[in-house]
Amino acid sequence: MDEPGIPHAQRSHVNFSLSSSLGNSLVPSPTLSINELVRQMWANGETVYHLGFGESRFPAHPAIVRALVEHASRQSYLPSAGIPELRQAVAGFHSRQLNREIRPDQVIVAPGSKSLLFAFQLALSGATVLHTPSWVSYEPQSRLFNRPVLRMPASPEDGHQLHPARLHRILRHSPYDQHLLILNSPSNPTGQMLEPALLEEIADICRREEVLVLSDEIYGLTAFGREHVSISSFYPEGTVVFGGMSKHLSLGGWRLGTALVPPGDSGQQLLQAVAKIGSELWSTASAPIQFAAVTAYADDAELASYVEKCTALHAARTRYLWRGLSELDISCAEPMGAFYLFPNFNHWRKPFASLGVQTSVDLARYLLEEWQIATLPGSDFGTPARELSLRLSTSYIDLETDQKAAELIEMASASANVEELLSSHHPGMNEVLARLKNLLSSL
Ligand SMILES: Cc1ncc(COP(=O)(O)O)c(C=O)c1O
Repeated sequence: MDEPGIPHAQRSHVNFSLSSSLGNSLVPSPTLSINELVRQMWANGETVYHLGFGESRFPAHPAIVRALVEHASRQSYLPSAGIPELRQAVAGFHSRQLNREIRPDQVIVAPGSKSLLFAFQLALSGATVLHTPSWVSYEPQSRLFNRPVLRMPASPEDGHQLHPARLHRILRHSPYDQHLLILNSPSNPTGQMLEPALLEEIADICRREEVLVLSDEIYGLTAFGREHVSISSFYPEGTVVFGGMSKHLSLGGWRLGTALVPPGDSGQQLLQAVAKIGSELWSTASAPIQFAAVTAYADDAELASYVEKCTALHAARTRYLWRGLSELDISCAEPMGAFYLFPNFNHWRKPFASLGVQTSVDLARYLLEEWQIATLPGSDFGTPARELSLRLSTSYIDLETDQKAAELIEMASASANVEELLSSHHPGMNEVLARLKNLLSSL
């Protein structure tokens, strides 16, 4: 607002307008927002059962912490694509994992894979195709620079399967010349995985239609339902693989993500374009974190067994909640990886409507306000507003403090029966199930 008659030097503010590409549709990331809201409610002394935030809570492995302390005094800017030692270590790690040679010059690191996913979308022309429901940030990132997004909806009835025929149809009818396909297996929000035969079929379509795949495999090492297979094994020339330390190593706040570009000249061109974007946005991933990450990507049996232990606990906790939901007849695909469930309450559409709950946003709000259960609405992940789906994360509940998370992993190491441990050490999860039971029987 202008302040008429007041000289410029005495005005209390400067007039400015926000960029039109931000528009009104851009909202803060829903996952970060729900976490802040729950923290605020806890600070006010309110009870909240937190199924809203996907953050692995287990302690940072001591060997990686030691490496970070050792390198804390590293203070210089580093190369945009990452230090050679780390690119070498990440290449070695993925060569072992993928069973083929990945060269260090195929690796780029950045502060989080989120930044890399943004930079790759920015670097490439065309439209982004999303298997939906999909992670909350892919579409908002595209919207920041007006990149078109084509959604490929999946249905709750068959566990949100990706149907190659649907992909084919979308590509054939698209008005755009070039496409990126973003895949995410294991998936946030559904916890589902894409099986190898399906990946092979998708790879064939993408090769024929010249579609580049951005394969977000950040949850690859938290797979438990079946072995994680990368689409890059079937389509190495057309896949960029994303990963990082946030999930299997529980180091989200350290902000270190990785991407592997295809071999050869076109991969190098792409990597250089992304490194240039990085040089203008974040300059470099933090220096001490990069040096510590060399240890995190080393060929180390003890570290690998720690990751397996954390994944086994995520698996047991997520399956425990899934079994509880199934006993209440809540429709939900059986989880295969990560720490997510994507149930839907469509069966109770009518009684919910009489409570004013018509959309997944209404449902998430109702659960928080009336039953103190924090979740995220399915529509944040691209499902139709009226589908009564929710994204539940099991990573936080009953592990609200660092101490609880450290105790659980210690107890799991000493216990022969993890299931027993769950029923006796998961009061929050049990309370959520009891509240859902009461809620459904009240409808
Ligand atoms: C599917 C998916 N991709 C990417 C990310 C971003 O991870 P990072 O911490 O590496 O930025 C997340 C984090 O929640 C995620 O769930």
